[in-house]
Amino acid sequence: MTSDIIRQESANKAGTGKTLHVITWGCQMNVYDSARMTDVLRPLGYRPVEAAEEADMVILNTCHIRERAAEKVFSELGRLRKLGEERRAAGHGRTVIAVAGCVAQAEGEEILARAPFVDIILGPQTYHRLPEMVARAARAGGAVIDTDFPAETKFDFLPAEAAPQTDGNLTAFLTIQEGCDKFCSFCVVPYTRGAETSRPVASVLAEARRMAAGGVREITLLGQNVNAYHGEDGSGGVATLAGLAAELAAIPGIGRIRYTTSHPRDVDQSLIDAHRDNRALMPFLHLPVQSGSDRILKAMNRGHTAEAYRDVVRRLRDARPDLALSSDFIVGHPGETDEDFEATMRLIREIGFAQAFSFKYSPRPGTPAAGAPLQVDEAVKDRRLQALQALLREQQDAFNADMIGRTLPVLFTARGRKPGQIAGRSPYLQAVHVDGPETLIGQTAPVLITQRNSNSLGGVLKRERACA
Ligand code: 5AD
Ligand code: SF4
Repeated sequence: MTSDIIRQESANKAGTGKTLHVITWGCQMNVYDSARMTDVLRPLGYRPVEAAEEADMVILNTCHIRERAAEKVFSELGRLRKLGEERRAAGHGRTVIAVAGCVAQAEGEEILARAPFVDIILGPQTYHRLPEMVARAARAGGAVIDTDFPAETKFDFLPAEAAPQTDGNLTAFLTIQEGCDKFCSFCVVPYTRGAETSRPVASVLAEARRMAAGGVREITLLGQNVNAYHGEDGSGGVATLAGLAAELAAIPGIGRIRYTTSHPRDVDQSLIDAHRDNRALMPFLHLPVQSGSDRILKAMNRGHTAEAYRDVVRRLRDARPDLALSSDFIVGHPGETDEDFEATMRLIREIGFAQAFSFKYSPRPGTPAAGAPLQVDEAVKDRRLQALQALLREQQDAFNADMIGRTLPVLFTARGRKPGQIAGRSPYLQAVHVDGPETLIGQTAPVLITQRNSNSLGGVLKRERACA
């Protein structure tokens, strides 16, 4: 699982015909899905535009992970309806409105009932059917709804185009796994994204090769439970994430590989070994633990103890001593006492995180924890969250401060803000800027870190020659 990010699909490519605007809420998986929906609509003549006001079709790609997701969707739909009416009054055609993603999957019927002006409702597994839905919506005069978990996989139906990319095509996301069989007590994902499935190795490699040929140097492999990956390997066997990462690392141009989000239970020995042996695997791992209390971990149905998490971290750090960790935490899960919370604080102090995301527990309808007794008071949740975030902030500051005086390999991805500056990312996903030539963009070069700003690091190039 990943951080909350909100992004507007903004690539404004040349073309004629109809215009499309995709609004993306939620995790990187949604960012990836939005780009693929844009890809499948391109052959129909849709080109992406920056603003909903200019769009013949608007897709709202939603996230259901935390509270008030549906309310947020209805309020945005209200805005889009008004926009559509204004466009019509100004002489444009009808604006097609589609709701995609996890809220559509979980609450499609309610969307139909409360926002009957919506044309298309589609779940995360059916976006390859979008062209057909658009055609049906044009004929139907009512909403087209498709929230199946179809037998065919959407990945087989994607156009063989450049995949979604950022940073001038130097870094990209690549979905390799979807769904989750873990059923944590608090989480909607198993209900909205369905059972765990993995893309075959050949399909992943083909997409990665296209990316590399297009200039991508760093790939982030995505999955709700990415390290549960078990894709067909083409010779009757099954590849693990470690095996897949080894094959990806062999693709010329792909210098860096990341993956997110992982489950502690699925960190197997091959993955630990890969962190020692596969130099393309970046030493920064998002490994959610959620709580440091065994009682709460059990209530959460996480399937591991706090000690098992510590053990996995120990083994990973033995394999890769410079590995930095990120995590997700939930405070105030039903039944959480002050003692349980203290156990979480203890675990954080012991492990030391470079970065983390933390949330107050919020009941998601239909999940076991939502109906559990001993719901925690909001004021208590607030207090715990503040204490937890203060500790995590302290650790993050210490981690960044510790970079000063170190030399880090930086993948340069863009010009910096000031003239003569270039910017890139460290192995730990920190933004780094230096004075340097633009010819280094697209390459990795060693940087001596000399300063720390609020959101980035500054440094000097050790030498103006790229390293591997
Ligand atoms: N309440 C609070 N946080 C949640 N998360 C998932 N479901 C809930 C919920 N019901 C958090 C978990 C997960 C992250 C993406 O969101 O920490 O790892
Ligand atoms: Fe949700 Fe748990 Fe699955 Fe993560 S592992 S997607 S938190 S059910």
